[in-house]
Amino acid sequence: MALFRRKRGTTETMKKGAKLITVANPQSPVSEQFRTVRTNINFMAVDHDIKTMAFTSANISEGKSTVTANVAITYAQSGLKTLLIDGDLRRPTLHSTFNVRNNRGLTTVLTSEAKEINLEDVVEESGVENLSILTSGPIPPNPAELIGSHRMRTFIDLVKAHYDLVIIDLAPVLEVSDTQELASHLDGIVLVVRQGKTQKPAIKRAVDMLTFAKVRILGYVMNDVSSENAGYGYGYGYGYGYGYGETNKKKGFLSRFKK
Ligand SMILES: Nc1ncnc2c1ncn2[C@@H]1O[C@H](COP(=O)(O)OP(=O)(O)OP(=O)(O)O)[C@@H](O)[C@H]1O
Ligand SMILES: [Mg+2]
Repeated sequence: MALFRRKRGTTETMKKGAKLITVANPQSPVSEQFRTVRTNINFMAVDHDIKTMAFTSANISEGKSTVTANVAITYAQSGLKTLLIDGDLRRPTLHSTFNVRNNRGLTTVLTSEAKEINLEDVVEESGVENLSILTSGPIPPNPAELIGSHRMRTFIDLVKAHYDLVIIDLAPVLEVSDTQELASHLDGIVLVVRQGKTQKPAIKRAVDMLTFAKVRILGYVMNDVSSENAGYGYGYGYGYGYGYGETNKKKGFLSRFKK
């Protein structure tokens, strides 16, 4: 009998931040793949304007924060005034990624008594042109309840009037139930899956839960694609399935994952 639970996930990005290859080397093939992810998301916006979107995954440590930050940067680099929010209140990373203090942030907004929220008090410049960031703020004992709260939804409605695009890094669907609640209020979500790690039943369950909550799934980013598949050693890849139907096809998106 195992007395200790196996350590799950890694805290590397929480401590050191996500790797911003789109800033460090915008011309690299990996940065180009992030731009392709942006293009594919934009295809989904043809009939339906996307102003608010989140990235999530089935489980922890599948690459959400890394993918979210880099995709947000490619949007900012394309000229859109973008706000990136750290909505993963259990495993926040944004302050480490952009090397800013986290003594105030999203939780400050959500727990404040004030009726009016002064965005300038909480939103910071990221150092990347057109990209503002809102870090998690101090972590409260009830993080999930805050994300699913009415105040969070009101806040999103407020900020979206000030930006071309609001992107949120959300906790994994199978770990935190409030992810679905907020996601259904957004224009769409992108599911990050990690090749060789995320298991098919987990993806299916995550998709089922999101679909049940009437969340619009914009697509999937397949992270950590091995070099023989993607052609690039470092291996960000993307595999875009379009919504639930694709995942049901025998040879569709799910066939690329572990049973
Ligand atoms: N494509 C990749 N290649 C190599 N390492 C990667 C890749 N994507 C993510 N990682 C590493 O995997 C770890 C988890 O990544 P990240 O923090 O972005 O995932 P996450 O889904 O946000 O995790 P959490 O559930 O903790 O929020 C980090 O150490 C990150 O550097
Ligand atoms: Mg994360």
